[in-house]
Amino acid sequence: MTTPQERIAQLRDEINFHLYRYHVLDSPVITDAEYDALYHELLALEQEHPELVTPDSPTQRAGAEPLDAFQKVQHPAPILSLSNAFNAEDLYAWRQRIGRFLPDPEMKLDYVAEPKLDGLTVVLTYENGRFTQGATRGNGEVGEDITQNLRTIPAIPQRIPVDPQSKVTVPPYLVVRGEAFFPLDKFEQFNARQLAEEKQVYMNPRNAAAGSLRQLDSKITAERPLTLYCYDLIAWRGADVPDKQWDRLDYLRQLGFPVSSDSQYCDTIEKVAAAYDGWFERRNQINYEVDGMVVKINDRPLADSLGFVGKDPRGAVAMKFPAQEKTTKLLGVQVNVGRTGILAPNANLEPVEIGGVTVRNATLHNYDEIARKDIRLGDTVIVKRAGDVIPYIVGPVVDVRDGSEQVIEPPTHCPVCGEPALRVPGEVAIYCDNPSCPEQLVRRVEYFVSRGAMDIDGFGGKTGAQLAEVGLVKDLADIYYLDRDELLALEGFKDKKVDNLLEGLAASKQQSPARFLTALGIRFVGSVVAGLLIDEFGSIDALAAASQERLEEIEGIGPGTAVSVTTWFTDERHRALLEKFRQAGLKFEAERPENEGIGSQVLEGLTFVITGTLPNLSRDEAKALIEAHGGKVTGSVSKNTNYLLAGEKAGSKLAKAESLGVAILDEASLQTMIQTQI
Ligand code: IVH
Repeated sequence: MTTPQERIAQLRDEINFHLYRYHVLDSPVITDAEYDALYHELLALEQEHPELVTPDSPTQRAGAEPLDAFQKVQHPAPILSLSNAFNAEDLYAWRQRIGRFLPDPEMKLDYVAEPKLDGLTVVLTYENGRFTQGATRGNGEVGEDITQNLRTIPAIPQRIPVDPQSKVTVPPYLVVRGEAFFPLDKFEQFNARQLAEEKQVYMNPRNAAAGSLRQLDSKITAERPLTLYCYDLIAWRGADVPDKQWDRLDYLRQLGFPVSSDSQYCDTIEKVAAAYDGWFERRNQINYEVDGMVVKINDRPLADSLGFVGKDPRGAVAMKFPAQEKTTKLLGVQVNVGRTGILAPNANLEPVEIGGVTVRNATLHNYDEIARKDIRLGDTVIVKRAGDVIPYIVGPVVDVRDGSEQVIEPPTHCPVCGEPALRVPGEVAIYCDNPSCPEQLVRRVEYFVSRGAMDIDGFGGKTGAQLAEVGLVKDLADIYYLDRDELLALEGFKDKKVDNLLEGLAASKQQSPARFLTALGIRFVGSVVAGLLIDEFGSIDALAAASQERLEEIEGIGPGTAVSVTTWFTDERHRALLEKFRQAGLKFEAERPENEGIGSQVLEGLTFVITGTLPNLSRDEAKALIEAHGGKVTGSVSKNTNYLLAGEKAGSKLAKAESLGVAILDEASLQTMIQTQI
């Protein structure tokens, strides 16, 4: 028989392998559901055996306890930088310059041309195949320990080799260099969400990567769509590291590290120059930000023997792309209405070609930023486009002003519905506060049906706008009252499309209350917060009845969210909307465990929190037992908790219960409570 310990080890290896297939090779061999099953089996086993949890378990990728500060880390060798070249001429000059350090200045060299990723350098240490430390570059000698944050990145192997079939031997010690970054599509989605939730919006993917990796709370990092590519070995012992850079990239791949497949082998310097031109052409078609191409002499011992100039090795050079910035005229500012009513300024520009794309619009982020940068109507502005990111305005060119430029005033009214605009003290955003604003409705419907929310099949982006326009959807709940014949009468709605739409809508009624809550689009209530709230209250109705103080007691819910939630639920219009959803048959209650009702109801009205390791029951079993007798189990201790069921190794929850005067039970007392009272 396999022991839990063996099974846990097996599951970890399997999960790590599937993470690698998915995130590194981009070719999964099992379905998401199969993956989830493995993950949940591991999670359950670890909950039963908390003493077997290790920091490198895949379950720990969700983040660990927040830190007070980052520790300093001494790198085993300097983390070098690169000198720059900007064109083929500079490249040939570099080849010329290094001639005098070579055994023969004219000797034939070959090269590797790699994408120059614009992210954040990370230094990853592996001891006996385990990921033990991850650091930032810092000043090249000393960096910061961001291990906890890096553990949350699914593309970083926790153990090497990742593929159990790999023949490669595990080096006792290995330090790898890579670049962590946000894929461009993910960056855009991420920023849009941040904006909607009124959280920090990042200027570009590089800042987003740097900001995400410098979080003291790794749970925040875990929610960011970071990935990385590796390209160098900094130090090693007992490893068969090949001499050629081209083979080193392959060696890294064999160990299971993600390595860009966009690198090229070039046997002459002319081919390097051609590779640069090719890259420059393609740079906007790649899903990560590149600011150039790195040229490395393939023969690494030879390259290393050339020495450095300052911190720049002679054996490699960065061929940078020209910045994708142009100046143009700011012709007007258009106000866009978002889902939460945010009025966002957008620039209308005199069309300008930047990096092969004609740019007519750019984001101005918010009115505080317009004021801070002193951007005026009619200004000549610098527009930057980075990859596929929405172009933005860097700032005005003040010197060429002729005095006709006008200060941009924040809107006083919603441009669509005409209601007065509102500014919440302490927030940068300006809102349209009219919940019936037609534009907000379209955005809310878009969000409600989207994948991260109710995930309604057959309900495309334009459908919501069309339905709102013709008046079939006047509030969110109307989408569940659509009539087949009315739909068929609309332009472009054929039988099949209508069937798909109605089927998708009907199926979505089974979505969990947590998804439903997310889809309502309450400010600050994204999927994570919605999950917490439903776990705590069990139903939308119980949540609706909760006070602000009660909400604030929940771990992970701040005062801003608590206010936002209570304000939303006290609004009569929202109450009416909820009733309409209820009539339509949406789920308001989280599913109860199956054995509910088989026990007594002696624990009815009592709220329990479980912590530590119990002698006989797993946490899930204890929860089921309590619920079977009518009690409720929540995740965090508050003054509404009646009992803390504590086992061995109880931690912060025990301390909190003691400080709040919450009664503390052990497993035996719980059993007595249930038995004596039946
Ligand atoms: S090699 C001696 N390769 O660019 C080796 N660097 O401008 C020096 N970078 O600090 C680095 N992609 O953060 C190398 N394929 C790549 C790279 C790369 C991005 C970054 C790296 C470095 C900076 C130098």
